[in-house]
Amino acid sequence: MGLTHQTQVCIIGAGPSGLLLAQLLGLAGIETIVLDRKDRAYIEGRVRAGVLERGTVDALEEAGVADRLHREGLPHTGFDLAFSGDRHRIDLQGLTGSSVMVYGQTEVTKDLFRARHDAGQRFFFNVDQVVPKHLKTAQPQVQFQCDGQIHTIDCKFIAGCDGFHGVSRNAIPQNLRQAFERVYPFGWLGILVDAPPVSDELIYANHEDGFALASMRSPTRSRYYVQCDPGDTVADWSDDRFWNAFATRLGEQAAGQLQTGPSFEKSIAPLRSFVAEPMQYGALFLAGDAAHIVPPTGAKGLNLAVADVRQLSRAFIAHFKGNDDPLQTYSQRVLKRVWKVERFSWQLSTLMHQFPDYGPFERRMQRAEFDYIASSEAASTAIAENYVGLPLE
Ligand code: APR
Ligand code: PHB
Repeated sequence: MGLTHQTQVCIIGAGPSGLLLAQLLGLAGIETIVLDRKDRAYIEGRVRAGVLERGTVDALEEAGVADRLHREGLPHTGFDLAFSGDRHRIDLQGLTGSSVMVYGQTEVTKDLFRARHDAGQRFFFNVDQVVPKHLKTAQPQVQFQCDGQIHTIDCKFIAGCDGFHGVSRNAIPQNLRQAFERVYPFGWLGILVDAPPVSDELIYANHEDGFALASMRSPTRSRYYVQCDPGDTVADWSDDRFWNAFATRLGEQAAGQLQTGPSFEKSIAPLRSFVAEPMQYGALFLAGDAAHIVPPTGAKGLNLAVADVRQLSRAFIAHFKGNDDPLQTYSQRVLKRVWKVERFSWQLSTLMHQFPDYGPFERRMQRAEFDYIASSEAASTAIAENYVGLPLE
C-alpha cells in the first residue's frame, strides 16, 4: 500500500537544475513535483561557485528570478591570470563584447526556492529509496519513501536533476551507458571571510606552491581558495596556514592589498571531470551534475547545468505543444556543448595547478602557455569566449 500522485514531469533533485526546470515549466503551464533527499535549509546552506555567464543571467531573467541578482550581483568585465607573480588580464568585454556576473550559487538557489514556494510548488523533502521505474513505457513512475510511507508518482517524464551522487544516472541500463572520468590529484580548500576582496576582479594564480583563486561574494565579503592535497581535511588548514599560503601564491603585488580576518566557512572540494552518455533513456532525461562534473576552475558547473535545463525545458514545452523532435535530440545536442565546456575547464585546470607528477618539462610548458596567452589576442580571446559562455547548441 502507499500513496499515489500524478504530475506531468517528476523532477528528482531540488538543486539549481531541478528548481530552475520546475520554474521554467511552471511558467509554461506544465505541472511538476520536485523531490529531494535533503531539506530546503540544507540545500540553501551549500556554498558553491559564484560566476554567472550572460546566458545564465538570461535564463534566470526568463524564469522571473533575476531581480535580486541585478540589485546585488557584481558585473565583471575581466579577470586576471597570474603565473609566479606575473599578471595578465583577460579583457572579457573588450575581447568578446560580453561580461559575467559575480553572484553566489547559494543566492540563485534561494531565489529559485522562493519563486517555487510562491508558485505553490509540490515538493517532497527528506525522501529516501528513490527509484525511477518503467522508463520505456507510456506510464513511467517514480517510487520513494517519505515520512515512513511509500509514495508513487505517475508521470509522463522524469527529470534526473539529482547531482553526481543521485540515482537517476544509474537507472539507465549499464550496457547502454558510458562514463568518462578524470580525477585530479588535488583538491580546493575554500574559505569565506568578511573582508573586502583583495582585487576588484578575480585572480587565478599558478605558483610553484600551488594554485590560488581570489573571488568574492560582495564588496565586503571574499571567497578565496588554495589548491590542497586530496587527502587534506579542514583541520589541516588553520586560518594562519591558509593566509600564508594564499598570500604567497597570489604574488607580492596582490598580496600587498590583502585584508585577512577569521574565516566563517571552510570546506574542501575534490576536482573531477566526468561525463555520462547518453543523457536520456526512454522517459528519463538527465540535467546538470547528474550527468556531468567539471573541475571548478572557470566556474562552469552551474552554468552548464543551466544550459542543459534551458534546452530541456524548451524540449518539454515543445512536446506538450505536439512537437517531439527537440526531446528526441536533447541528449545529442547538449552533449556537444557539455564536451566543449569540459574541455575548457580541463584546459584551465591543467594550466593553473601544480601536478605532483610534473617535472621541469611540464612546468616549462605551463609557463610557455601562459606567455603565449599573455602575448596573443587570439589565445586570450579563446579563453574569454569560453569564460563568458559558449552559445547553446
Ligand atoms: N533523490 C532525491 N534527491 C537527490 C538524490 C536522490 N537519490 N540524490 C541527490 N539528490 C539531491 C541532492 O540533495 C541535491 O539537492 O539532488 C540535488 C542535486 O543538486 P546539485 O548537486 O546542486 O546539482 P545540480 O542541481 O545539477 O546543480 C549543478 O551545482 O553542484 C553544483 O557544481 C555544480 O554548480 C553546479 C550545480
Ligand atoms: C567562486 O567565487 O566561488 C568561484 C569563482 C570562480 C571559479 C570558481 C569559484 O572559477
